Amino acid sequence: MAASWSPSGWRDHPIQQVPEYPDLAHLNDVEQQLAGYPPLVFVGEAQRLKTDLAAVARGEAFLLQGGDCAESFAEFSPNNIRDTFRVLLQMAVVLTFGAALPVVKVGRVAGQFAKPRSAPTEVIDGVELPSYRGDMVNAMEFDVASREPDPSRLLQVYNQSASTLNLLRAFAQGGFANLEEVHRWTLDFVKGSPTSERFEQVSGRIGECLEFMRACGITPENIQQLRETEFYTSHEALLLGYEQAMTRADTITDDGGWYSTSAHMLWIGDRTRQLDGAHVEYMRGIRNPIGLKCGPSLSVDDLLRLIETLNPANEAGRLTLIARMGCEKVREGLPPLVRAVKAAGAEVIWSCDPMHGNTIKSSTGYKTRPVDRILDEVSGFFEVHEAEGTYGGGVHFEMTGQDVTECLGGAQAITETALGDRYHTHCDPRLNASQALELAFLIADMLKTKRAGNTANLAQAS
Ligand code: PEP
Ligand code: CO
Repeated sequence: MAASWSPSGWRDHPIQQVPEYPDLAHLNDVEQQLAGYPPLVFVGEAQRLKTDLAAVARGEAFLLQGGDCAESFAEFSPNNIRDTFRVLLQMAVVLTFGAALPVVKVGRVAGQFAKPRSAPTEVIDGVELPSYRGDMVNAMEFDVASREPDPSRLLQVYNQSASTLNLLRAFAQGGFANLEEVHRWTLDFVKGSPTSERFEQVSGRIGECLEFMRACGITPENIQQLRETEFYTSHEALLLGYEQAMTRADTITDDGGWYSTSAHMLWIGDRTRQLDGAHVEYMRGIRNPIGLKCGPSLSVDDLLRLIETLNPANEAGRLTLIARMGCEKVREGLPPLVRAVKAAGAEVIWSCDPMHGNTIKSSTGYKTRPVDRILDEVSGFFEVHEAEGTYGGGVHFEMTGQDVTECLGGAQAITETALGDRYHTHCDPRLNASQALELAFLIADMLKTKRAGNTANLAQAS
């Protein structure tokens, strides 16, 4: 691979998942326009996330990444943003409290609008049209006009991402995330469930700690970490024309490199991780923290070469490997990869996406994911790391703060027939607030048990 790099160099590489725009001059115009727009995030913030993730790579923190499978124009509302943010905060509190580790919070939000598809077209009743590729490209309705890729959607994505980010920053820093507000974060529809009762207990104990600390003079008024939180954004870097337009040279710090300013963190999808492909070429040159989805078809050799290409300086915090094997494959498929990465001495974060390998079709025709399978993959992921002596440092969920019925099971016991009640996703089925919180408790329990084991081992050794 060539050592030199430019934001447009990906255009000389083979590329997957490209929409067929009927008007390329229009696309070019829009990309030019975007290139002149202000950055959505700042270089210093992306660098701070990399520093935070370096702590995860060292085993001193945990990564929580989550949000919509696909954001949409139709579901854009302040309440939806607030509710997803609030569930992520709750999950983070549960994990921080249970595992006694700082939690790095990264949303799949403010830019997660483009979807890779298994086929370029879709046939319904003998009619063949381009597949829906996310609101960033075309519309979901099945008619010729809706399915035609429209470049002006890129501008709408930029604008929606900017206002989403603006609200998220206000929530993170304007008082909503103050730990003294923790008991107010529970969403109405979750109230009364066993999970929400468990959350009440945690928030009660945090409340007691805060009162004690207040008595000692440590308060949210004088300690920023108690009244504010850091919240970062991420999405799959799929539409490289948009990403190129949002790539800016770092002129603020003395780092001197190129950064994506469309989000703090970007990731490469499982369908676009070809070594000589355009997506890997683009991603190797930006200095943001990046992710790489690792599905069951990824070979050990390819993974090692991808790591070498994407993180040649072996910088901790730069690369997160997001394993998405499926619950049936994780226990056999993951160990060879983990072992080889460890033997190569590569500094990476291993995170678990238990969503994308566990999608099934319900008997009622819905694309769904059973919570049991999701949990089984998470357990398998931690078991593998325990056995290999490595650190399972994060999780990656598709979830929402809305009261949807898209994934089967959980404490609310969503059944196949109930799936149709509130099935709103624009792509894959998401965990609802109650299911997401339930998972956070289970993961916190696993991390706590592991910590207790480590402490016991240390005590034995000394
Ligand atoms: C996704 O994260 O939405 C996705 C499409 O994942 P993957 O690339 O792992 O299939
Ligand atoms: Co998805």
